Amino acid sequence: MSWFYIILLIEVFAFLYLRFLYFFLLTLALILYGFSQIRYSLKILPLLLISYVQGVKTEVVTELKDIKKMMQLNDKGRGVECLFSQEGFSPMLSLESENGPNWERLRENYLTFFSYTPSLGKFAFIANQEVKRILALPDNIDSIQISKSTVKIFLSWLFCENHLKLEKKENITFSKVEPEEVRPDDLKFVEQFVNDDVFTKLYESSLEYRKHLAIKGKADPAKKQYAVDVVVDILSKSKYTSIPNFNWKDPFIFSIVMQPMIISPMINISDIAVGVKRHKDLYNKKDYKEFLDYIDYCIMKNHPFVVLERYNKETNTQFYLEIDTCHRASTFDPTILNYAMGPRACLGRVIARIFLEHFFQPIVEDMTKFYPEVNHLYSGRDNDDNMSFQETIYQVTKIFGVIFKEYLRARRENNQIIESKDN
Ligand code: HEM
Repeated sequence: MSWFYIILLIEVFAFLYLRFLYFFLLTLALILYGFSQIRYSLKILPLLLISYVQGVKTEVVTELKDIKKMMQLNDKGRGVECLFSQEGFSPMLSLESENGPNWERLRENYLTFFSYTPSLGKFAFIANQEVKRILALPDNIDSIQISKSTVKIFLSWLFCENHLKLEKKENITFSKVEPEEVRPDDLKFVEQFVNDDVFTKLYESSLEYRKHLAIKGKADPAKKQYAVDVVVDILSKSKYTSIPNFNWKDPFIFSIVMQPMIISPMINISDIAVGVKRHKDLYNKKDYKEFLDYIDYCIMKNHPFVVLERYNKETNTQFYLEIDTCHRASTFDPTILNYAMGPRACLGRVIARIFLEHFFQPIVEDMTKFYPEVNHLYSGRDNDDNMSFQETIYQVTKIFGVIFKEYLRARRENNQIIESKDN
C-alpha cells in the first residue's frame, strides 16, 4: 500500500477519534506530501485536469492492443509536448513536440538530412573510441563528462565525411552494424570549431534546456541560444550547405539536427546512465543475457519520457500511456514503451541503440570510475536524487498557470462558436 493510502487512513481515524489539532496537522502533512509527489508525477493527474478544462475526453490506456491502436494516431494533441516541451525546446522547433503541417515539414527535412549523413558503422566506431578515451582518463566519469562525450560523438560523426563529396543514400538498411574506421584526419574539419571548452559550454546550454523541459526553473535564453549558434555555424560552413533547399538559418532546418541529435541526446543519455548504474546488479547477476535487453530495462526505468500521448480529432479524445504503470504489466513490450511505435515513433531508434551498445558496454564491464549521478541536474524523473522545495513550488505554479491559460483559451473558443452561430 502506498504512503498516500496510509496517510489517508490515519486521517480518517484522526477525524473520527482524535481532536481537531491532529486532524489539522495530518491535513497539512497530506498536502505537503501531495506537493512533493507532483514533481515526479507530472503525468496523469495534471494532464487529466488540462483535458478537462479543454473539454477533451481522455483515455488512459494500459492494454497492449489499445496501446498499439493509440500509437497509429499521428497527432499528440494539446498535452505535455504542446504545452510544455515546445516552449522548453525553444528557440528550436521540436519534431517530437509539433503537430500537423509543422510536424510533417520537420519530419520530411529530418529524413532528407539523415539520408546524407555518414554510415552508422562510423558512428559505432566513434562512440567506441570516445568511451575508451574517457575510461583511460584519471578522472571519474560523471554526468558532465557523459553529456560532453555524447555531443562530441554526434558532432564527430555528423562531420567526419566533410572532406568527401555530398552523397545521398538511397536505400538505408539497418542490418547489423559493424564499426567502420574513422581516421584522426577525418575529424579535422569539426575540430576547427570545437574543443573541450566549447563542449563544456554546450553542456551548460543543454542544462538550460533540461531545466526548462523538466519545469524546474527559468532557463537562460542566451545560454540556450549558444548551442544553436555553435552548431548552425558548423553546419553553414560544412558540405551540408549543398543539400537542395536547405538554409541552415531556418528553424525548420537547423532544428532537425539541433533537437534530436544535439540537445536531446545530451539530456537522455545522462539520464539513462543513472539507470545503467542503478540497476547494475541485474546485469551482474546475469538476469539479462543480452546487453541491450538490460539497457532497455534501464531506459524504461530512468529515461525522462514518463507519458506518451496521442489525440484523436474525430472523437475529440486524448490518449495517455503512463510508462511507469505499464512496465509493471505482464504484457509490456519495452521497445514500444521506450521508443513508441507508429507514425510518431522514435526516428533515431537505430542510432540510439548503436550509441547505447558501443558507449555503455565498455563502461558496464568495469563501473569503478562510473558516477553518472554526480553533477546530474534537472531530471524529468527522479534521476537527480534531488527534491528541492523551490523547484516543486516552481513546477506546481507553472502547471497551474498552464491549466488556467487552457481554461481561458477553451472559454474564448466556445464564445466564438456561440457568436458565429448567433450571426
Ligand atoms: C536512448 C535514446 C532515445 C530514446 C529512448 C528515444 C525515445 C523516443 C520516443 C519514446 C519517442 C516518441 C515519443 C512519443 O511517442 O511521444 C521519440 C521520438 C523521436 N526520436 Fe527518439 N529516442 C532516443 C534517441 C533519439 C536519437 C539519438 C534521435 C536522432 C538521431 C531520435 C530521434 C527522434 C525523433 C526525430 C523523434 C520524433 C518522431 C516524431 O514525433 O515524428 N531519438 N524518441
